[in-house]
Amino acid sequence: MSYNIAIDGPAGAGKSTIAKKIAKKMNYIYVDTGAMYRAMALYLIRMGVEKDDKEKIEEICKNADITIEYKDGEQIVLLNDENVNGLIRTEEVGNMASVSSANGKVREKLVQLQKELAKKADVVMDGRDIGTCVLPNADTKVYLTASAEVRAKRRFDELTQKGESCDLEKIKEDIIERDHRDMTREISPLKQAEDAVLVDSSNMTIDEVVEKIISLCK
Ligand code: DC
Repeated sequence: MSYNIAIDGPAGAGKSTIAKKIAKKMNYIYVDTGAMYRAMALYLIRMGVEKDDKEKIEEICKNADITIEYKDGEQIVLLNDENVNGLIRTEEVGNMASVSSANGKVREKLVQLQKELAKKADVVMDGRDIGTCVLPNADTKVYLTASAEVRAKRRFDELTQKGESCDLEKIKEDIIERDHRDMTREISPLKQAEDAVLVDSSNMTIDEVVEKIISLCK
């Protein structure tokens, strides 16, 4: 039986940084489910689909074949066989992903793939609905969060480091808007699973969070 760790939480809580480190330390596979929703969003943007066109999203998402591979321990997302890793980290794609991921047809397709991955291997999987929906029987479940201020500042620092100019207040507004959308959507909204452990990383270092989660697995 494979061991499954589920980490859910809002945007910018540090899920991917933490999950990657845990995967490395425990020799597990890291599955970034947000990247799959982002690849789908990229496809929809490329096809000129409007965010609020539910019917078009349902129709067009069928043509996107999304799979993942691993190269030197890195997850690579393939969209119709094209490596799109370098194209999905923009705010535009993130905002589209937050809208299109609310669509049942989009979720059906990607959740199936996520379940299969977790069956085959020991995984640390992060997202919004992993503990509640994708892996309800995960061995360890964590709900990782941080205040909106802290999350906005982390994102601001990350973008500034990359040399991108950005506005802290605007980032915070986007984060709050995205949280609201992710938490209030009808299908698989972001929420803490009943059996998930709440970890607030606002005043914790990355390593402290990593150690905390590893200790929960033991
Ligand atoms: O974690 P992220 O920012 O890369 O995710 C992008 C969007 O995808 C996010 O707004 C919500 C959605 N998402 C989801 O609905 N379910 C998941 N398991 C992961 C992400």
